[in-house]
Amino acid sequence: MSHNTIALNQQRQPLDHLDSVWLFGYGSLIYKADFPYLQRKPACIYGWQRRFWQGSHDHRGTPEAPGRVLTLIEAPGERCAGMAYQVTPQTFTHLDHREKNGYLRFFTELHWQDEPGQTAGLVYLASADNEAYLGPDSDAAIAAHIAVSAGPSGPNSEYLLQLAAALRELGEHDEHVFAIERELLNLLA
Ligand code: BEZ
Repeated sequence: MSHNTIALNQQRQPLDHLDSVWLFGYGSLIYKADFPYLQRKPACIYGWQRRFWQGSHDHRGTPEAPGRVLTLIEAPGERCAGMAYQVTPQTFTHLDHREKNGYLRFFTELHWQDEPGQTAGLVYLASADNEAYLGPDSDAAIAAHIAVSAGPSGPNSEYLLQLAAALRELGEHDEHVFAIERELLNLLA
């Protein structure tokens, strides 16, 4: 699959008939909401884990030297916490462009963190068949890769450190993220 997914997302899943849509952020969307939203609430999804297994050619790396950013991997019984935003369908014009490097959007069930209830919402997911996919590696190797990567949105290390800080602010522990953060901090020390 081509790693530019803008047209694919718009063809597969037109949203214009809806008044608003919930979007679940599990990565940079937790701390970087560079779009208007109607409301936001901490939320989680079940059956998925975040992993630094996707290459970034356009934000935290370059086509010649891709960085490492997040995708979601199916993981029965696991929980992935993040932030949900209620947005208008027009917001996806911006988001599909921001997340064009291999990510397709899917509807899944979002569960509120601070209140009972759930709703359907969209997540961006880069599957193993996209051209920018890198796949698993050890925490140390992922941290070493992140330490030397940078792109138009800034250093790859900033992405990891801001994500870890945002998860702590939500009161969430994600061992994959925190183990790579520990390795990165050791490298930077
Ligand atoms: C997110 O923060 O939810 C996100 C992660 C990767 C791509 C797009 C969005």
